[in-house]
Amino acid sequence: MNAKQTAAHKAVEFVQDGMVVGLGTGSTAYWAIQRLGQRVKEGLRIRTIATSLRSETLARELDIPVISFADVTAIDLTIDGADEVDPANRLVKGGGGSLLREKIVAAASRTFIVVVDESKVVAQLGAFPLPVEVVPFGWEATAGACAALGCTPTRRTADGQPFVSDNGNFILDCAFGTLAEPESLAARLNAIPGVVENGLFLGMVDKLVIGHADGTCTLR
Ligand code: 5RP
Repeated sequence: MNAKQTAAHKAVEFVQDGMVVGLGTGSTAYWAIQRLGQRVKEGLRIRTIATSLRSETLARELDIPVISFADVTAIDLTIDGADEVDPANRLVKGGGGSLLREKIVAAASRTFIVVVDESKVVAQLGAFPLPVEVVPFGWEATAGACAALGCTPTRRTADGQPFVSDNGNFILDCAFGTLAEPESLAARLNAIPGVVENGLFLGMVDKLVIGHADGTCTLR
């Protein structure tokens, strides 16, 4: 097992029969969904809410029941990855372009478990450009307002075309360098008209599972 798989499998141990489970997005969450699929085949009864169309498709392929927010009032436990995590378990997320749904699902979860390999653990956030989801209308003006906060924003592309999120929005990858004050930055970004959400997940993590190359994992 690689480090991502190790972390994902550890997190899935916290899933119990009858739970509503939030499914994250990305290559680490992928392993958690695969493991959940195995456990469902073995008899585990869960219902899930996916943070992306990609993860929803994978879950359905594995015969994991997928529901919507219309069917539940809360999510028991969500397992998702991250692009960076600092010593206070603050995260940068959105490398996969799903930060808005990921934040909605994490905020609605009683327990939010984050799974990473050790390369994601950093002393300070910011080497990974901060993903910010913006509406397409006037995105140039929105990017200008983000730049005024001290970053170089780049509109994300995929296959030479603008990347479009599951919500029909663009992603600006905002290179700030080291994020000295993530809380105030998150508030200032979200105050810009046109910004839908930013990729800083602050004070949300209940459990962090770090997978290591030697097959062990650490809980924090
Ligand atoms: C997607 C995310 C992912 O959780 C993040 O990009 C980490 O992905 P991976 O596990 O592939 O490294 O935030 O929007």
